[in-house]
Amino acid sequence: MFVATATATATAATVTAPIDLRSDTVTTPTPAMRRAMAEAEVGDDQYGEDPTVARLERRFADLLGKEAAVFVPSGTMGNLVALLAHCGRGDEAILGDESHIFWYESGGAAALGGIPFNLRPTGRFGALDPEDVARAIRPSRPGYPRTGVVCVENTHNRCGGTVLSPAQIREVAEVAHARGVPVHMDGARIFNAAAALGIAPAAIAAEVDTVQACLSKGLAAPVGSLVAGSDTFVDAARRGRKLVGGAMRQAGVIAAAGLVALDEMVARLPEDHARARRLADGLAALPGVTVDLDTVQTNIVIFQPPAGMSAPAVIAGMADRGVRVSDYGTRGLRLVTHYQIDDAAIATALAAAADVMAAVRV
Ligand SMILES: Cc1ncc(COP(=O)(O)O)c(C=O)c1O
Repeated sequence: MFVATATATATAATVTAPIDLRSDTVTTPTPAMRRAMAEAEVGDDQYGEDPTVARLERRFADLLGKEAAVFVPSGTMGNLVALLAHCGRGDEAILGDESHIFWYESGGAAALGGIPFNLRPTGRFGALDPEDVARAIRPSRPGYPRTGVVCVENTHNRCGGTVLSPAQIREVAEVAHARGVPVHMDGARIFNAAAALGIAPAAIAAEVDTVQACLSKGLAAPVGSLVAGSDTFVDAARRGRKLVGGAMRQAGVIAAAGLVALDEMVARLPEDHARARRLADGLAALPGVTVDLDTVQTNIVIFQPPAGMSAPAVIAGMADRGVRVSDYGTRGLRLVTHYQIDDAAIATALAAAADVMAAVRV
Protein backbone atom coordinates (compact mmCIF):
# COMPACT_ATOMS: atom_id res chain seq x y z
CA MET A 1 0.00 0.00 0.00
CA PHE A 2 1.30 3.49 -0.79
CA VAL A 3 0.08 7.03 -1.06
CA ALA A 4 0.28 8.58 -4.52
CA THR A 5 2.09 11.90 -4.36
CA ALA A 6 1.29 13.37 -7.78
CA THR A 7 0.09 16.94 -7.58
CA ALA A 8 -3.53 17.45 -8.54
CA THR A 9 -4.05 19.66 -11.54
CA ALA A 10 -7.21 21.33 -10.35
CA THR A 11 -8.15 22.53 -13.78
CA ALA A 12 -11.74 23.47 -14.43
CA ALA A 13 -13.61 20.66 -16.12
CA THR A 14 -14.36 21.06 -19.81
CA VAL A 15 -16.78 19.36 -22.17
CA THR A 16 -16.13 18.35 -25.75
CA ALA A 17 -18.85 20.62 -27.15
CA PRO A 18 -20.03 24.01 -25.90
CA ILE A 19 -23.32 22.57 -24.65
CA ASP A 20 -23.43 18.79 -24.48
CA LEU A 21 -26.89 17.55 -23.61
CA ARG A 22 -26.46 14.05 -25.03
CA SER A 23 -26.06 12.45 -21.64
CA ASP A 24 -25.04 13.04 -18.03
CA THR A 25 -22.17 10.63 -18.72
CA VAL A 26 -20.29 13.43 -20.54
CA THR A 27 -19.50 15.18 -17.26
CA THR A 28 -15.82 15.48 -16.50
CA PRO A 29 -14.38 15.22 -12.97
CA THR A 30 -14.64 18.20 -10.65
CA PRO A 31 -11.44 19.83 -9.33
CA ALA A 32 -12.14 18.19 -5.94
CA MET A 33 -12.30 14.79 -7.64
CA ARG A 34 -9.02 15.37 -9.45
CA ARG A 35 -7.35 16.33 -6.16
CA ALA A 36 -8.80 13.28 -4.40
CA MET A 37 -7.61 11.02 -7.22
CA ALA A 38 -4.09 12.38 -7.05
CA GLU A 39 -3.93 11.90 -3.31
CA ALA A 40 -5.76 8.58 -3.09
CA GLU A 41 -4.40 5.94 -0.77
CA VAL A 42 -4.32 2.76 -2.86
CA GLY A 43 -3.44 -0.92 -2.75
CA ASP A 44 -4.15 -4.07 -4.72
CA ASP A 45 -7.90 -4.42 -4.69
CA GLN A 46 -7.79 -8.03 -5.87
CA TYR A 47 -6.08 -8.80 -2.58
CA GLY A 48 -8.76 -6.72 -0.85
CA GLU A 49 -6.05 -4.18 0.03
CA ASP A 50 -7.23 -0.95 -1.54
CA PRO A 51 -8.44 1.16 1.39
CA THR A 52 -10.13 3.76 -0.79
CA VAL A 53 -12.16 1.14 -2.67
CA ALA A 54 -13.07 -0.45 0.65
CA ARG A 55 -14.22 2.94 1.98
CA LEU A 56 -16.31 3.58 -1.12
CA GLU A 57 -17.93 0.15 -0.99
CA ARG A 58 -18.73 0.52 2.73
CA ARG A 59 -20.07 4.03 2.31
CA PHE A 60 -22.30 3.03 -0.59
CA ALA A 61 -23.65 -0.07 1.19
CA ASP A 62 -24.47 2.08 4.23
CA LEU A 63 -26.12 4.77 2.10
CA LEU A 64 -28.34 2.14 0.49
CA GLY A 65 -28.95 0.22 3.70
CA LYS A 66 -27.43 -3.01 2.36
CA GLU A 67 -24.94 -5.39 3.95
CA ALA A 68 -22.22 -4.97 1.35
CA ALA A 69 -21.27 -3.52 -2.03
CA VAL A 70 -18.75 -4.13 -4.79
CA PHE A 71 -17.13 -1.50 -7.02
CA VAL A 72 -17.32 -2.20 -10.77
CA PRO A 73 -16.13 -0.23 -13.79
CA SER A 74 -19.55 0.44 -15.31
CA GLY A 75 -23.29 0.25 -14.85
CA THR A 76 -23.44 -2.34 -17.57
CA MET A 77 -21.03 -4.58 -15.69
CA GLY A 78 -22.89 -3.91 -12.45
CA ASN A 79 -26.15 -5.16 -13.93
CA LEU A 80 -24.35 -8.09 -15.56
CA VAL A 81 -22.68 -9.33 -12.37
CA ALA A 82 -25.96 -8.90 -10.50
CA LEU A 83 -27.81 -11.06 -13.01
CA LEU A 84 -24.99 -13.62 -13.01
CA ALA A 85 -25.23 -13.76 -9.22
CA HIS A 86 -29.00 -14.22 -9.22
CA CYS A 87 -29.35 -16.66 -12.11
CA GLY A 88 -27.84 -19.96 -13.15
CA ARG A 89 -27.57 -20.84 -16.85
CA GLY A 90 -31.05 -21.19 -18.31
CA ASP A 91 -32.70 -19.21 -15.51
CA GLU A 92 -34.86 -16.42 -16.84
CA ALA A 93 -34.71 -12.70 -16.02
CA ILE A 94 -38.02 -10.83 -16.12
CA LEU A 95 -37.50 -7.26 -17.26
CA GLY A 96 -39.22 -4.42 -19.07
CA ASP A 97 -39.16 -4.17 -22.85
CA GLU A 98 -37.85 -0.61 -22.56
CA SER A 99 -35.19 -1.42 -19.98
CA HIS A 100 -31.57 -0.41 -20.35
CA ILE A 101 -30.48 -3.99 -19.66
CA PHE A 102 -32.47 -5.16 -22.69
CA TRP A 103 -31.65 -2.28 -25.05
CA TYR A 104 -28.11 -1.20 -24.38
CA GLU A 105 -26.07 -3.89 -22.63
CA SER A 106 -25.19 -6.06 -25.64
CA GLY A 107 -27.41 -8.87 -24.38
CA GLY A 108 -24.53 -9.63 -21.99
CA ALA A 109 -26.54 -11.60 -19.46
CA ALA A 110 -27.92 -13.82 -22.23
CA ALA A 111 -24.62 -14.12 -24.08
CA LEU A 112 -22.33 -14.69 -21.10
CA GLY A 113 -24.68 -16.07 -18.46
CA GLY A 114 -27.12 -18.12 -20.57
CA ILE A 115 -29.89 -16.01 -19.01
CA PRO A 116 -32.91 -15.63 -21.33
CA PHE A 117 -34.91 -12.39 -21.11
CA ASN A 118 -38.63 -12.59 -20.43
CA LEU A 119 -39.65 -9.12 -21.62
CA ARG A 120 -42.75 -7.48 -20.16
CA PRO A 121 -44.48 -4.30 -21.31
CA THR A 122 -43.10 -1.13 -19.74
CA GLY A 123 -45.65 1.42 -18.56
CA ARG A 124 -45.52 5.06 -19.66
CA PHE A 125 -43.69 5.96 -16.44
CA GLY A 126 -41.30 3.02 -16.45
CA ALA A 127 -43.21 0.67 -14.16
CA LEU A 128 -43.92 -3.00 -14.68
CA ASP A 129 -47.46 -4.19 -14.00
CA PRO A 130 -47.33 -6.37 -10.85
CA GLU A 131 -50.13 -8.62 -12.14
CA ASP A 132 -48.27 -9.12 -15.38
CA VAL A 133 -45.08 -9.93 -13.46
CA ALA A 134 -47.01 -12.42 -11.32
CA ARG A 135 -48.22 -14.14 -14.49
CA ALA A 136 -44.73 -14.13 -15.98
CA ILE A 137 -43.07 -15.90 -13.03
CA ARG A 138 -42.81 -19.52 -14.04
CA PRO A 139 -44.39 -22.32 -12.06
CA SER A 140 -41.92 -25.04 -11.15
CA ARG A 141 -42.05 -27.57 -14.00
CA PRO A 142 -39.20 -29.45 -15.63
CA GLY A 143 -39.92 -27.91 -19.03
CA TYR A 144 -40.01 -24.30 -17.83
CA PRO A 145 -36.98 -22.14 -17.19
CA ARG A 146 -36.67 -21.15 -13.56
CA THR A 147 -37.37 -17.45 -12.95
CA GLY A 148 -34.09 -16.19 -11.48
CA VAL A 149 -34.74 -12.48 -11.02
CA VAL A 150 -37.14 -9.62 -11.69
CA CYS A 151 -35.47 -6.35 -12.75
CA VAL A 152 -36.80 -2.83 -12.31
CA GLU A 153 -35.20 0.42 -13.46
CA ASN A 154 -35.23 3.67 -11.44
CA THR A 155 -35.07 6.31 -12.79
CA HIS A 156 -36.22 4.90 -16.10
CA ASN A 157 -33.99 6.09 -18.91
CA ARG A 158 -36.03 5.41 -22.05
CA CYS A 159 -39.24 6.59 -20.40
CA GLY A 160 -37.60 9.98 -19.86
CA GLY A 161 -36.03 9.74 -16.41
CA THR A 162 -39.28 8.79 -14.71
CA VAL A 163 -39.29 7.87 -11.04
CA LEU A 164 -40.67 4.76 -9.36
CA SER A 165 -41.88 5.34 -5.81
CA PRO A 166 -41.13 2.80 -3.06
CA ALA A 167 -44.82 1.81 -3.10
CA GLN A 168 -44.72 1.05 -6.84
CA ILE A 169 -41.58 -1.02 -6.46
CA ARG A 170 -43.05 -2.83 -3.46
CA GLU A 171 -46.03 -4.00 -5.53
CA VAL A 172 -43.71 -5.76 -7.95
CA ALA A 173 -41.34 -6.99 -5.23
CA GLU A 174 -44.18 -8.51 -3.24
CA VAL A 175 -45.32 -10.71 -6.12
CA ALA A 176 -41.72 -11.72 -6.84
CA HIS A 177 -40.85 -12.43 -3.22
CA ALA A 178 -44.08 -14.39 -2.73
CA ARG A 179 -42.70 -16.81 -5.33
CA GLY A 180 -39.15 -16.76 -3.92
CA VAL A 181 -37.74 -14.60 -6.73
CA PRO A 182 -35.31 -11.78 -5.89
CA VAL A 183 -35.63 -8.26 -7.33
CA HIS A 184 -32.72 -6.33 -8.82
CA MET A 185 -32.88 -2.60 -9.42
CA ASP A 186 -30.96 -0.95 -12.22
CA GLY A 187 -30.60 2.20 -10.18
CA ALA A 188 -28.06 3.84 -12.47
CA ARG A 189 -29.76 7.12 -11.45
CA ILE A 190 -31.18 6.10 -8.05
CA PHE A 191 -29.85 9.33 -6.54
CA ASN A 192 -31.92 11.31 -9.05
CA ALA A 193 -34.96 9.23 -8.07
CA ALA A 194 -34.32 9.87 -4.37
CA ALA A 195 -33.86 13.60 -4.98
CA ALA A 196 -37.09 13.80 -6.98
CA LEU A 197 -39.00 11.96 -4.25
CA GLY A 198 -37.30 13.88 -1.45
CA ILE A 199 -36.38 10.66 0.35
CA ALA A 200 -33.18 8.80 1.20
CA PRO A 201 -31.89 6.35 -1.43
CA ALA A 202 -32.10 3.64 1.22
CA ALA A 203 -35.87 4.09 1.31
CA ILE A 204 -35.97 3.08 -2.36
CA ALA A 205 -33.33 0.35 -2.08
CA ALA A 206 -35.19 -1.19 0.87
CA GLU A 207 -37.82 -2.49 -1.56
CA VAL A 208 -35.39 -4.58 -3.60
CA ASP A 209 -32.76 -7.22 -2.91
CA THR A 210 -29.97 -5.77 -4.98
CA VAL A 211 -29.14 -2.41 -6.57
CA GLN A 212 -26.72 -1.14 -9.19
CA ALA A 213 -25.98 2.60 -9.14
CA CYS A 214 -23.66 4.73 -11.26
CA LEU A 215 -21.19 7.33 -10.02
CA SER A 216 -20.34 8.46 -13.55
CA LYS A 217 -23.65 10.02 -14.56
CA GLY A 218 -25.28 12.89 -12.66
CA LEU A 219 -22.71 12.53 -9.91
CA ALA A 220 -19.93 13.37 -12.40
CA ALA A 221 -17.29 10.84 -11.36
CA PRO A 222 -15.12 9.73 -14.28
CA VAL A 223 -15.67 5.97 -13.91
CA GLY A 224 -17.51 3.49 -11.80
CA SER A 225 -20.65 1.92 -10.46
CA LEU A 226 -21.48 -0.08 -7.37
CA VAL A 227 -23.65 -3.09 -6.77
CA ALA A 228 -25.11 -3.61 -3.32
CA GLY A 229 -27.01 -6.39 -1.57
CA SER A 230 -26.49 -9.09 1.02
CA ASP A 231 -22.99 -10.34 1.92
CA THR A 232 -23.69 -13.59 0.06
CA PHE A 233 -24.89 -11.76 -3.05
CA VAL A 234 -21.91 -9.42 -3.07
CA ASP A 235 -19.49 -12.36 -2.76
CA ALA A 236 -21.15 -13.87 -5.85
CA ALA A 237 -21.10 -10.52 -7.69
CA ARG A 238 -17.38 -10.17 -6.89
CA ARG A 239 -16.79 -13.62 -8.38
CA GLY A 240 -18.86 -12.58 -11.43
CA ARG A 241 -16.78 -9.42 -11.78
CA LYS A 242 -13.63 -11.53 -11.97
CA LEU A 243 -15.30 -13.94 -14.39
CA VAL A 244 -16.07 -11.13 -16.85
CA GLY A 245 -12.59 -9.68 -16.45
CA GLY A 246 -13.52 -6.63 -14.43
CA ALA A 247 -11.57 -7.12 -11.23
CA MET A 248 -9.23 -4.21 -10.59
CA ARG A 249 -5.94 -3.40 -8.90
CA GLN A 250 -5.15 0.14 -7.60
CA ALA A 251 -8.73 1.21 -8.28
CA GLY A 252 -8.60 3.57 -5.32
CA VAL A 253 -7.55 6.23 -7.81
CA ILE A 254 -11.02 6.17 -9.32
CA ALA A 255 -12.84 5.20 -6.12
CA ALA A 256 -11.53 8.44 -4.60
CA ALA A 257 -13.49 10.41 -7.19
CA GLY A 258 -16.51 8.23 -6.38
CA LEU A 259 -16.30 9.21 -2.71
CA VAL A 260 -16.30 12.89 -3.70
CA ALA A 261 -19.29 12.16 -5.95
CA LEU A 262 -21.25 10.72 -3.02
CA ASP A 263 -20.14 13.46 -0.62
CA GLU A 264 -20.50 16.53 -2.83
CA MET A 265 -22.62 15.85 -5.89
CA VAL A 266 -25.84 14.29 -4.60
CA ALA A 267 -27.26 17.43 -2.99
CA ARG A 268 -27.08 19.45 -6.20
CA LEU A 269 -29.16 17.03 -8.35
CA PRO A 270 -32.39 19.08 -7.90
CA GLU A 271 -30.67 21.85 -9.90
CA ASP A 272 -30.42 19.48 -12.87
CA HIS A 273 -34.06 18.54 -12.45
CA ALA A 274 -35.19 22.18 -12.41
CA ARG A 275 -33.21 22.90 -15.58
CA ALA A 276 -34.63 19.84 -17.32
CA ARG A 277 -38.10 21.09 -16.47
CA ARG A 278 -37.32 24.51 -17.96
CA LEU A 279 -35.89 22.87 -21.05
CA ALA A 280 -38.96 20.65 -21.45
CA ASP A 281 -41.40 23.53 -20.99
CA GLY A 282 -39.48 25.61 -23.53
CA LEU A 283 -39.40 22.78 -26.08
CA ALA A 284 -43.09 22.01 -25.58
CA ALA A 285 -43.88 25.64 -26.40
CA LEU A 286 -42.26 25.34 -29.85
CA PRO A 287 -44.73 24.76 -32.70
CA GLY A 288 -45.10 21.09 -33.56
CA VAL A 289 -42.70 19.81 -30.91
CA THR A 290 -44.08 17.06 -28.67
CA VAL A 291 -42.91 16.53 -25.11
CA ASP A 292 -44.70 14.27 -22.65
CA LEU A 293 -44.27 16.77 -19.84
CA ASP A 294 -45.58 14.39 -17.17
CA THR A 295 -42.58 12.16 -17.77
CA VAL A 296 -40.10 14.97 -17.13
CA GLN A 297 -39.45 14.14 -13.49
CA THR A 298 -35.67 14.29 -13.18
CA ASN A 299 -32.79 15.28 -15.50
CA ILE A 300 -33.93 13.70 -18.81
CA VAL A 301 -36.09 15.26 -21.51
CA ILE A 302 -37.31 13.26 -24.50
CA PHE A 303 -39.06 15.07 -27.32
CA GLN A 304 -40.31 14.41 -30.82
CA PRO A 305 -39.63 17.02 -33.51
CA PRO A 306 -42.45 18.42 -35.64
CA ALA A 307 -43.82 16.15 -38.36
CA GLY A 308 -41.64 16.34 -41.45
CA MET A 309 -38.40 16.93 -39.55
CA SER A 310 -36.06 14.00 -39.19
CA ALA A 311 -34.09 13.31 -36.02
CA PRO A 312 -30.72 13.42 -37.84
CA ALA A 313 -31.59 16.81 -39.34
CA VAL A 314 -32.50 18.19 -35.92
CA ILE A 315 -29.32 16.77 -34.40
CA ALA A 316 -27.20 18.31 -37.17
CA GLY A 317 -28.99 21.66 -36.90
CA MET A 318 -28.49 21.76 -33.13
CA ALA A 319 -24.83 20.74 -33.49
CA ASP A 320 -24.29 23.59 -35.96
CA ARG A 321 -25.51 25.89 -33.21
CA GLY A 322 -23.18 24.33 -30.63
CA VAL A 323 -25.70 22.09 -28.88
CA ARG A 324 -25.40 18.31 -28.83
CA VAL A 325 -28.45 16.09 -28.39
CA SER A 326 -28.88 12.34 -28.88
CA ASP A 327 -31.06 10.23 -31.09
CA TYR A 328 -33.28 7.96 -29.05
CA GLY A 329 -34.67 6.07 -32.01
CA THR A 330 -38.27 5.06 -31.51
CA ARG A 331 -38.53 7.29 -28.44
CA GLY A 332 -37.42 10.56 -30.08
CA LEU A 333 -34.52 12.83 -29.19
CA ARG A 334 -32.97 12.93 -25.74
CA LEU A 335 -31.48 15.79 -23.74
CA VAL A 336 -29.96 15.31 -20.30
CA THR A 337 -29.03 18.05 -17.86
CA HIS A 338 -26.02 17.69 -15.61
CA TYR A 339 -23.31 19.39 -13.59
CA GLN A 340 -21.85 21.18 -16.60
CA ILE A 341 -25.15 22.61 -17.84
CA ASP A 342 -26.01 25.97 -16.31
CA ASP A 343 -28.93 28.37 -16.81
CA ALA A 344 -27.20 30.09 -19.72
CA ALA A 345 -26.76 26.72 -21.46
CA ILE A 346 -30.49 26.04 -21.16
CA ALA A 347 -31.29 29.43 -22.68
CA THR A 348 -28.85 28.81 -25.55
CA ALA A 349 -30.20 25.31 -26.16
CA LEU A 350 -33.78 26.60 -26.30
CA ALA A 351 -32.83 29.39 -28.69
CA ALA A 352 -31.03 26.87 -30.90
CA ALA A 353 -34.03 24.53 -30.83
CA ALA A 354 -36.41 27.35 -31.79
CA ASP A 355 -34.13 28.25 -34.68
CA VAL A 356 -33.72 24.66 -35.86
CA MET A 357 -37.40 23.73 -35.61
CA ALA A 358 -38.26 26.79 -37.66
CA ALA A 359 -35.61 26.09 -40.28
CA VAL A 360 -34.97 22.38 -40.72
CA ARG A 361 -37.24 20.58 -43.18
CA VAL A 362 -36.60 17.16 -44.65
C1 LIG B 1 -30.58 3.09 -16.72
C2 LIG B 1 -29.17 2.75 -17.07
N1 LIG B 1 -28.65 1.60 -16.62
C3 LIG B 1 -27.39 1.25 -16.88
C4 LIG B 1 -26.56 2.07 -17.61
C5 LIG B 1 -25.17 1.60 -17.94
O1 LIG B 1 -24.17 2.37 -17.37
P1 LIG B 1 -22.71 2.40 -18.05
O2 LIG B 1 -22.82 3.34 -19.20
O3 LIG B 1 -21.84 2.90 -16.95
O4 LIG B 1 -22.38 1.02 -18.46
C6 LIG B 1 -27.05 3.29 -18.09
C7 LIG B 1 -26.18 4.17 -18.89
O5 LIG B 1 -26.57 5.18 -19.40
C8 LIG B 1 -28.39 3.65 -17.81
O6 LIG B 1 -28.92 4.78 -18.26
